[in-house]
Amino acid sequence: MMNYNDFYSESIRNPEGFWKKQAQALAWDTFPTEILKSAPNGGSHWFADGKLNMSYLCIDRHIEAGHGDQVAIYYDSPVTNVKATITYLELREEVSKLAGGLKKLGLEKGDTAIIYMPMIPQAVYAMLACARLGVIHSVVFGGFAPHELAIRIDDCEPKVIITASNGIEIEKIIPYKPFVDEAISLAKHKPERVVIFDRKLGVDIPQRNYDVDYETLVKDSEPVDPVQVAATHPLYILYTSGTTGTPKGIVRDTGGYATALKASMKYVYGVEEGDVYWAASDVGWVVGHSYIVYAPLLNRNSTVLFEGKPIKTPDASTFWRVISEYQVKVMFTAPTAIRAIKKEDPEGLLLKKYDLSCLKYQFLAGERCDVATLEWTKQKLNVPVIDHWWQTESGWPMLANMVGVELQPVKPGSAGFPVHGYDIQIMGEDGNPCGVNEEGYVLVKLPLPPGCLLDVWQNTQRFTAGYLEKFPGYYFSGDGGYKDEDGYVFITGRVDDIINVAGHRLSTAEMEEIVASHPAIAECAVFGIHCDLKGQRPLGLAVLKSGMDISAENLEKEVVQNVRHEIGAVASFKQLLVVNRLPKTRSGKILRKLLRNIADKSEYPIPSTIDDVTIIDEIKQVYSSKNIGKPKKQAI
Ligand code: COA
Ligand code: AMP
Repeated sequence: MMNYNDFYSESIRNPEGFWKKQAQALAWDTFPTEILKSAPNGGSHWFADGKLNMSYLCIDRHIEAGHGDQVAIYYDSPVTNVKATITYLELREEVSKLAGGLKKLGLEKGDTAIIYMPMIPQAVYAMLACARLGVIHSVVFGGFAPHELAIRIDDCEPKVIITASNGIEIEKIIPYKPFVDEAISLAKHKPERVVIFDRKLGVDIPQRNYDVDYETLVKDSEPVDPVQVAATHPLYILYTSGTTGTPKGIVRDTGGYATALKASMKYVYGVEEGDVYWAASDVGWVVGHSYIVYAPLLNRNSTVLFEGKPIKTPDASTFWRVISEYQVKVMFTAPTAIRAIKKEDPEGLLLKKYDLSCLKYQFLAGERCDVATLEWTKQKLNVPVIDHWWQTESGWPMLANMVGVELQPVKPGSAGFPVHGYDIQIMGEDGNPCGVNEEGYVLVKLPLPPGCLLDVWQNTQRFTAGYLEKFPGYYFSGDGGYKDEDGYVFITGRVDDIINVAGHRLSTAEMEEIVASHPAIAECAVFGIHCDLKGQRPLGLAVLKSGMDISAENLEKEVVQNVRHEIGAVASFKQLLVVNRLPKTRSGKILRKLLRNIADKSEYPIPSTIDDVTIIDEIKQVYSSKNIGKPKKQAI
């Protein structure tokens, strides 16, 4: 076992030497001579003159090394009662033929394609087929509504959209194809083709001129070989919530990302080639991109593709069944999934039905992990439970207890230590470093290590303004936190308008825009409050225009429906309260943080800038009439 301090210090002291060595674990077409250089947008380019192909590294390379018969994907779908094993050889067949089909449709290196699909193997094939051609994919999470999909279509201007007839949420059918048709009609940019995988579940597929049947396309196509791309060629664009109403397209490179992911499997997750690895997320999120698809396949693991929920598919034992059935060595999920299981099966009795001796580590991320959830998981699984912190922008962990380097004692509430390559600093508003246990902004000293965002798609100004200019010389993560006396870092939450609902990153600013557009509403505020199950949930407060004749109940119904229609079910926006006025500063700024703190019954100072303190009692009364406010520190 290595020593964490030595390993980490080397990555900070000599980044070029450290990462050059890590890059050697990949099979490059041309190994880079330029390891690190500054990029024109103020960021960094890693391995700029290197050439490679991600699909080759994830598939062909393993076959050439004699591992074609190893399982690449275990597909497990309790919602359709289907299970499948896909070997690396089968994966190459599917991916290279789909790539051939996409090529026939005119897709070539540098084009963009949107993938809007449920958790089925064809979603993974589509990602890898794009990567094989050098086509930049943008996967959109299925829980987003047509309007959100339309925003992404207009921003990344795909030539082709790849979708499926439908998804299944427990028992509910999600009509993907009609959503795509609606999104295209809303968008200004019109993709040339829509490729549809028919799941043959008896769902009607509306026909359009641009439709192409996935199976016919693949059947009639010749397989294609991987196309060589530069290390800095974008592999994908992944949209994530920002602090304005418009999501931003995080651009990921190829060579830096592949290097970082490959190294992370060994050092962060303690996973060796050939092991079974499971990230219970969705390909629509960064966790899905990095740890369902690219990292495990780069590392020649067998990855589990699970189309279900932690509960109700069919019950709270489903995770334990999957771990034991596929002999999962390392698993990754969000704390909210564990809270859902714990609520259904507090004693963990269902766990006892399965032999889980294969499991070595349980990783958690996506949102803050409360101590009760961490302790429950540790006690029930009897393995180290590792909270770790990262974001869409980083693409891979920034803080962790690096089990493949040196497992350190777990401190509940902390996301661990800086991961190799990340020089994490905590700073105050004034740009001065915070002391031990002093809360501040969590920053990363530049340069960022390989794998982190290259840019914001078509919006470099947003990249520099959002991440680089707030603290010159540092990457601004948007999270607050502190370091304790032993160097453990604690993340305390976002410092902006982003909330995490069931591990899903959402923008309250975007919801607020939709709420404000209701004709009866004069002004409003949307912010995240504590939720025992989902970590946070959005709450809206609205002041009516005078003379409006609408009941609070009807207004809530309409606004909830509007948010669901514009953003999608995933927003989980379920509550709007009518108030007489909102607390503001004397200059007229709504005090959203105060509203949130009152709801959460957190300690809050009364801002000296508030225009009228009597409003605090009014708000408390409205909250208590709706039973809002968690009992402090009480877990489920
Ligand atoms: N496609 C379409 N709709 C989706 C969807 C998808 N892929 N994912 C979620 N939705 C819908 C849900 O059906 C639900 O709709 P409803 O309001 O009609 O019931 C809504 O979006 C909210 O979903 P969710 O926040 O997931 O809540 P839930 O009550 O359905 O489930 C949990 C709660 C905790 C079981 C679930 O959130 C979960 O499994 N969380 C794990 C989180 C996770 O893996 N995060 C990934 C980041 S690491
Ligand atoms: P996303 O980009 O969707 O992965 O969301 C990233 C955000 O989720 C981070 O900026 C954090 O606010 C939050 N987050 C992720 N992991 C953790 C964690 N382990 N602890 C606390 N917050 C987390």
